[in-house]
Amino acid sequence: MLDGKRLLLIVSGGIAAYKCPDLVRRLRERGAAVRCVLTRGGAEFVTPLALGAVSEDKVYQDLFSLTDENEMGHINLSRQADALLVAPATANMMAKMCHGEADDLATTVLLATDKPVLVAPAMNVRMWEHAATQANVETLKARGITFIGPDEGDMACGEFGMGRMSEPLDIVDAVASFFRDRSRLQGRRALVTSGPTYEPIDPVRYIANRSSGKQGHAIAEALNGLGTETTLVTGPTRLPDPPGVNVVHVETARQMLAACEAALPADVAVCAAAVADWRVEAEATEKLKKSPGVGPPALVMTENPDILRALSEPGNRRPGLVVGFAAETENVVAHAQAKLDRKGCDWIVANDVSPDTGTFAGDANTVHLISHDGVEDWPRLSKKAVGTELALRIADALEAVAGNAS
Ligand code: PMT
Repeated sequence: MLDGKRLLLIVSGGIAAYKCPDLVRRLRERGAAVRCVLTRGGAEFVTPLALGAVSEDKVYQDLFSLTDENEMGHINLSRQADALLVAPATANMMAKMCHGEADDLATTVLLATDKPVLVAPAMNVRMWEHAATQANVETLKARGITFIGPDEGDMACGEFGMGRMSEPLDIVDAVASFFRDRSRLQGRRALVTSGPTYEPIDPVRYIANRSSGKQGHAIAEALNGLGTETTLVTGPTRLPDPPGVNVVHVETARQMLAACEAALPADVAVCAAAVADWRVEAEATEKLKKSPGVGPPALVMTENPDILRALSEPGNRRPGLVVGFAAETENVVAHAQAKLDRKGCDWIVANDVSPDTGTFAGDANTVHLISHDGVEDWPRLSKKAVGTELALRIADALEAVAGNAS
């Protein structure tokens, strides 16, 4: 059901736009309120009158119309929607979205929005299969945009293949399941660690590692997308804070542990941070000086607290599900299995961080999900996709426990 959901439907210029009045009708039958933005190209295939009649709302077309901007404005169009749906999304529209172009009302709204965006592509099969379009699809997916279709079938141009816009009822089902997923874990609390820790040597220098935070941030974003109240405890990264997530910035392992403990209770904890195992025992209060005739300082190291192990300790503060990561460079699965036992967590996600894998700081990851039930090898995925898949597995597990308890 889409009761009370407000959708901004952006109709761009493909022949499939003729299906949009039916799409609007079907969305409204399921309880959604639909407001339409029609591009110049879209208006070649469907009239504003038709969309206005079925949506029972004004149809917005012009970025530079004084009345349109006075009445609503491109920022308000996005602000007053729960999600944006681009259908049909032409190859040109997707290319513009990729590059952040804002040369009409539709693209300006898409650039200005902080709301979820769903796209239903529609184009000729060769345009869909073109390397440029496929690269754009990957970029948009990596930015968290949800794709609905396209489907395979006969096309208006007389060809057959992939690129047909999904049928209105299928789009409506996909939109409904998108919203269902977004509230799947409502009322649950998630804690995620991400990024490196910085362990000071003196006021100037520190020991760190190569973690970018991309994997941990993607997991926090995905859990938040399923409706959890999410706390992300992160070491220093260059990433923006994921919207809607409560972000706690820390530097050292000890600060990370304190922030995690303050974020409890939680239903699930995911430790994706690359926490330094050791720190310098006695941090120098003044900058260590290089003096002639005196060799380099000998750093005496001591062990840092193990955050994953602390969170996995049995007791009533233990999150219902504790997930660790294992960064390995050899015997990845075997070493990770040993870590699962040693740390006392429920699952461990193993990844190979050898330099030639590009796992550290890259956008993709190849992981193995290890539990006491066995090992699942996942294909190489974007870190966003690993985050999404892991969040869905977590949702399944939490729901299964809740189902067993009731
Ligand atoms: O940040 P990216 O560039 O996107 O890279 C992602 C990643 C490679 C950092 C991530 O996928 C990953 O593997 N994170 C775990 C890194 C790590 O520290 O692994 P480990 O095998 O040393 O530690 C095992 C587990 O114990 C981890 O869950 C770690 O968070 C945790 N740990 C380790 C030491 C410590 N003192 N406290 C901990 O909580």
